[in-house]
Amino acid sequence: MAELFQFLQRSRNYKSVPSLLVLIWAVGFILLIVWQRAAVDRIWPSNHRPIPNLRPLVFNLTDFGAIGDGKTMNTNAFERAISEIHRRGGGQLNVEAGRWLTAPFNLTSHMTLFLAQNAVILGIDDENYWPLMPPLPSYGYGRERAGPRYGSLIHGQNLRDVVITGHNGTISGQGQTWWTKYRKHLLNHTRGPLVQLMWSRDIHISEVTLRDSPFWTLHPYDCQNVTIRNVTILAPLSGAPNTDGIDPDSCENMVIEDCYISVGDDGIAIKSGWDQYGIAYARPSTNIIIRNVIVRSMISAGVSIGSEMSGGVSNITVENLLVWNSKRGIRIKTSAGRGGYVRQITYRNLTLENVRVGIVIKTDYNEHPDTGYDPNALPIIEDINFDGIRGQGIRIPVRVYGSQEIPVRNVTFRDMLVGITYKKKRIFQCSFVQGRVIGKIFPSPCENLDVYDEEGRLIRKSVFQNTSTDVDYDQGEV
Ligand SMILES: *[C@@H]1O[C@H](CO)[C@@H](O)[C@H](O)[C@H]1NC(C)=O
Ligand SMILES: *[C@@H]1O[C@H](CO)[C@@H](O)[C@H](O)[C@H]1NC(C)=O
Ligand SMILES: *[C@@H]1O[C@H](CO)[C@@H](O)[C@H](O)[C@H]1NC(C)=O
Ligand SMILES: *[C@@H]1O[C@H](CO)[C@@H](O)[C@H](O)[C@H]1NC(C)=O
Ligand SMILES: *[C@@H]1O[C@H](CO)[C@@H](O)[C@H](O)[C@H]1NC(C)=O
Ligand SMILES: *[C@@H]1O[C@H](CO)[C@@H](O)[C@H](O)[C@H]1NC(C)=O
Ligand SMILES: *[C@@H]1O[C@H](CO)[C@@H](O)[C@H](O)[C@H]1NC(C)=O
Ligand SMILES: *[C@@H]1O[C@H](CO)[C@@H](O)[C@H](O)[C@H]1NC(C)=O
Ligand SMILES: *[C@@H]1O[C@H](CO)[C@@H](O)[C@H](O)[C@H]1NC(C)=O
Ligand SMILES: *[C@@H]1O[C@H](CO)[C@@H](O)[C@H](O)[C@H]1NC(C)=O
Repeated sequence: MAELFQFLQRSRNYKSVPSLLVLIWAVGFILLIVWQRAAVDRIWPSNHRPIPNLRPLVFNLTDFGAIGDGKTMNTNAFERAISEIHRRGGGQLNVEAGRWLTAPFNLTSHMTLFLAQNAVILGIDDENYWPLMPPLPSYGYGRERAGPRYGSLIHGQNLRDVVITGHNGTISGQGQTWWTKYRKHLLNHTRGPLVQLMWSRDIHISEVTLRDSPFWTLHPYDCQNVTIRNVTILAPLSGAPNTDGIDPDSCENMVIEDCYISVGDDGIAIKSGWDQYGIAYARPSTNIIIRNVIVRSMISAGVSIGSEMSGGVSNITVENLLVWNSKRGIRIKTSAGRGGYVRQITYRNLTLENVRVGIVIKTDYNEHPDTGYDPNALPIIEDINFDGIRGQGIRIPVRVYGSQEIPVRNVTFRDMLVGITYKKKRIFQCSFVQGRVIGKIFPSPCENLDVYDEEGRLIRKSVFQNTSTDVDYDQGEV
């Protein structure tokens, strides 16, 4: 700076036009440096947020020889840190700022995995490092390939009291390689999820970003008491097959709130096992609240139930959900062979912005693990409640298609007002559905439903519950 100043002083003595240019150049140069500093500070803030001690015993990953250069494998450091936490009966593991490449590892009970600001855990994208595990008992099958499946990057079984949190650090599955191999049929086994906790309880996941999972992103399986709060989940909107955001699977007592999800498949998909395997395992997903969540899904739906729901799904509340620029808002999907039930489902205050099909119930989602399923195992779909639906840019607001063998019973729509983009007459589409609409409903409901006014007085009783409104499949499978 001093030299620059002297230089400017000297140039001033010439009192010439070029010296003015030099001055302008110098000022520009200084501004550029100031701007660059500010930009760097935004990316690597000089004062990192200090990491709180959330457990009595705290370790740093670097204490175990980890190197955050994005190239060195740190599997050993993670394993040694976690086995030390296990030996000591619990503790916190801090993952500091840096890029920590690793193969899959297992968590332990009473542990907190804390991801500092700018900490990135990178899953190695070479399947030879990923252990194979037996199929999930309620699937009887890897899910996309028969036989064993790859485990998850961050895994846990039979655990209690596990916390994954931080200052919005990231866990990345580096899924690109996996998606490409999957498309080219180069994988012999089902891809692994990013984070999977099985047979565990008291799970808390918050303030982290999960991205680019090889397969489903966050998969709590047969767990109880799970809270997922303020989590960002990202994957490309297309070309990232099966990258569901969160898959609560045979889980009980779960809250998902304040999350942002933008992925290549369902944002959230509540499940409970597949056909005969799920029926035999018989563990439902129940008592689940999803609220204040924003989702984008160009391939599938914001929030789904199914299609694997053979252990049953009940008592689900979805409220204050925003689905934007997506293919579908919410969807319940099942088929003959599933058995089980979907009941006591409440959707409250749904906002749909530029969504092709708003609400979908589909009963012919014929995807089965093998030929051993029982075609007479018919799922029950009943007691589905929609209360407060807003939005704009919707093509088909409602498509509820029950069938002769799987009718949809006791559906209630209350207070629905959405802007539509498709000027066809029957865009509120129903078949084999019984239920009612209450209060203001726009666009006008299908004739399969009873009509009540705002005070709950019956205005018109439906006569034809089983007729279908025009089947409109011209925009592809829904
Ligand atoms: C972990 O690192 C932080 C700063 O990076 C330091 O203050 C703290 O003492 C370290 N803790 C342990 C247990 O090494
Ligand atoms: C994690 O634990 C499970 C169950 O013990 C085991 O099958 C799996 O191989 C372990 N994963 C790793 C990466 O060690
Ligand atoms: C969500 O997490 C971010 C990043 O860690 C934090 O700044 C913010 O306060 C959190 N918001 C809520 C509602 O907890
Ligand atoms: C957390 O990080 C993700 C991805 O980097 C970002 O999109 C999100 O806005 C961040 N959340 C907060 C609360 O800062
Ligand atoms: C998949 O299986 C085939 C035949 O069994 C084998 O040749 C190939 O190496 C396997 N590929 C991988 C990625 O394991
Ligand atoms: C649920 O888990 C949290 C920890 O994530 C724990 O603090 C809480 O006591 C548990 N609640 C029940 C009812 O088990
Ligand atoms: C339904 O789930 C909510 C929230 O988890 C819970 O408070 C309520 O008791 C459950 N209702 C029934 C009937 O189990
Ligand atoms: C409805 O949900 C939106 C977010 O999608 C939220 O902004 C709004 O406050 C909610 N309305 C009520 C009455 O809770
Ligand atoms: C219909 O469903 C509602 C919940 O949406 C429930 O309160 C009511 O009892 C059900 N009615 C019948 C007849 O099952
Ligand atoms: C509609 O079909 C269902 C199941 O097939 C049957 O139980 C019901 O009685 C039928 N309703 C009417 C009004 O025809």
